Amino acid sequence: MSDLLFLRAEAIRGLGICHVSFLMFFFLNPFVSQMVRAQSNDASIRFDKETKVFRIDAADTSYVLGINEVKQVQTLYWGKRLSMDDTFAAPHSASGNSSFDLSTNTTPQEFVAWGGGVYIEPDLKVTFPDGNRDLVLQYQSHTIDGRLLTLRLKDISREVYVDLQYEADPITGVLRRSAQVENKTASPLNIGQIASGTWNLPRGTDYRLRYLTGRWAGEWRLQEQRIQPGKTVLESRRGSTGDQNNPWFAIDRDGSNDQDHGDVWFGALGWSGSWRISIEQDQVQQVRVTGGPNDFDFNYRLAAGERLQTPNFYAGYSHDGIGGASRLLHRFELGSILPNAPHPKLRPVLYNSWEPTGFNVDEAGQESLAEKAATIGVERFVVDDGWFGQRSGDKAGLGDWNVNPVKFPHGLRPLIDKVHSLGMDFGLWVEPEMVNPNSDLYRKHPDWVLNFPGRPRTEGRNQLMLNLARPDVRAYVFQFLDSLLNENDIAFLKWDYNRNWSEPGWPAVAPEEQKKVYITYVQNLYSILEELRRRHPHVEIESCSGGGGRVDLGIMQYTDEVWPSDNTDAFDRLLIQDGFTYAYTPGVMMAWVTDSPTWVNQRTLSLEYRFLSSMQGSLGIGADLNHWKPQDFETAKKMVAQYKQIRETVQRGSLYRLISPQNGSEYSVTESIAEDQKLAVAFAFLHSSQMLYPFPRIYLRGLKADVTYRIKALDGKLSTGSPAVASGAFWMQHGVDVDLRGDFQAAAFTLEAVSK
Ligand code: GLA
Repeated sequence: MSDLLFLRAEAIRGLGICHVSFLMFFFLNPFVSQMVRAQSNDASIRFDKETKVFRIDAADTSYVLGINEVKQVQTLYWGKRLSMDDTFAAPHSASGNSSFDLSTNTTPQEFVAWGGGVYIEPDLKVTFPDGNRDLVLQYQSHTIDGRLLTLRLKDISREVYVDLQYEADPITGVLRRSAQVENKTASPLNIGQIASGTWNLPRGTDYRLRYLTGRWAGEWRLQEQRIQPGKTVLESRRGSTGDQNNPWFAIDRDGSNDQDHGDVWFGALGWSGSWRISIEQDQVQQVRVTGGPNDFDFNYRLAAGERLQTPNFYAGYSHDGIGGASRLLHRFELGSILPNAPHPKLRPVLYNSWEPTGFNVDEAGQESLAEKAATIGVERFVVDDGWFGQRSGDKAGLGDWNVNPVKFPHGLRPLIDKVHSLGMDFGLWVEPEMVNPNSDLYRKHPDWVLNFPGRPRTEGRNQLMLNLARPDVRAYVFQFLDSLLNENDIAFLKWDYNRNWSEPGWPAVAPEEQKKVYITYVQNLYSILEELRRRHPHVEIESCSGGGGRVDLGIMQYTDEVWPSDNTDAFDRLLIQDGFTYAYTPGVMMAWVTDSPTWVNQRTLSLEYRFLSSMQGSLGIGADLNHWKPQDFETAKKMVAQYKQIRETVQRGSLYRLISPQNGSEYSVTESIAEDQKLAVAFAFLHSSQMLYPFPRIYLRGLKADVTYRIKALDGKLSTGSPAVASGAFWMQHGVDVDLRGDFQAAAFTLEAVSK
């Protein structure tokens, strides 16, 4: 059992702690006879013994599957919630059209084992020691435990079992799926491919796929394409999530959908290692989405008696367009994924001097910046890279996590005390999984890195990857972090990861075990994070990977916030942040105000513009306060105070994309509205005005039509024509004009419900 993969209570916690009660009294037969209608914000799982149909109803979604006559688990429905009285006939496998289309391929199976003739994407492919590679799974039994449905499948002759798990979130209708393989044969078997499950979409040929791509400093690019016969593969082979693709997808009906209308099926994988999601329209036009760890260079040897649990693959449905889909996902992340869910802590305003000082951090310099940061209302002061070992640049020091005695002669204590005395808490940068060859750690343990003996060790940013799958490396990393947190009053770690894998060898174990590194590494990463959080419950963590290279629902279970991109150009950020929020909540999206002209594009932007861009997420300041003028401090102080007034709405509210910055748009407008609909905040950005055209009128969304709201300019300009108070209907139907002209202009305003 030692290889039980991330089988933690927390892996399931995602859906386990919502407060809405679960309607357990539905498990009756036939289920149509039942009297209580599940309402929105409830979840129920019902089983009809006669037809062998399982029905999961949660929030506005129904998901229906059944066991067919050959005991396959078959998808019957996924979409908008149906009437509780609707019934489904006993499922039957699809007949093949011809001898070339076997029923194993044409039946929409929930979990496809490779055996008996399968040409579509399988969820599981195994090789037995005798060379047999055939696996045919049949339903054996099931359990329903609260919101969790588990179906137990077994191979037709061998003692190989697969448990399919489904868990429904009553608030959003998002389903968590995962699979656990158990080898009860007397010998090991090799798993060559394993996924968490397959999502079958309703029949249709008019689908459009959205997904996210990127690279360093250019993350979160939204892509759209029509789904056509064939397969699109989104993946990372990098050992971690990566920014080339992010493990998120959304599919809608091309042509009939917009931001707020139409059916959308969306999903995200909770896995921070190499991963793969394939979106396939097969030969009978079935669209299926299969996702899990990447099968490239993969093998997992499952010993007799062992089990392997896949990552969680989450998916949901929205009837309210892609905007509705991202709002559901945001709510799910806040309510079920993040640490302290369903009440994750609000993000404090932080300061970080990485851009102005680089590696040149020392006690005096940081203290002086801390004094200045405190004057504008910063709540957390973070020391970035450069405080440890022989770290004067990126060529040395990673791995030696002792405080640099020249830069901090008395340790970190004096600085931390100073930061506290200024009313802020203290955060520190670490990059625990890495080592520079020029470090004491590497000189002592050259065998601790991923490597193939006798082959070159490819460096990225002059560093190598520690092999966290090794027990001694895992222990070292945990211990240094634990000591750091024991010895210093640290409230926050910025956990960085600045390269991807190369030569992923693990020479310390037998060759047939080495490829387990893809799983065990991530398993150990999660367990370190989990244990640290348990021992230091007040410490918050940011996931950073040279920008947004490790953002996914797996790491987000352990990290309170993420760094979307090293690109802090406030104009570029509009696009980056827009893409980011398709999948992830602005509540975790760190956004710093940095210097102008920006290092990225040499673009000059006003301080107000930079603030308003960052205030759409979790505000941070990363500028050189030593060069600010008194006027800049005044502006910053005012805007930080304004941010604190709206941050709960921005970080916890519902996000509406009123005007998208995608496709070279001249404009960008977002609106966040508090859950109780009492406060809305809108941000508007103009690239450059032309030909006297006015800024487009802004039509708000999500307000209560009959409630009166007072409008207030946060910064920038409201058109003089606006009334001071009007109904929600007015702001939504008549709209608001902002007076933006020129280049790179920005404005923001709030609408606050007026109590009568
Ligand atoms: C990465 C991060 C930056 C900074 C540097 C430090 O690039 O994304 O914010 O922390 O590392 O080396």
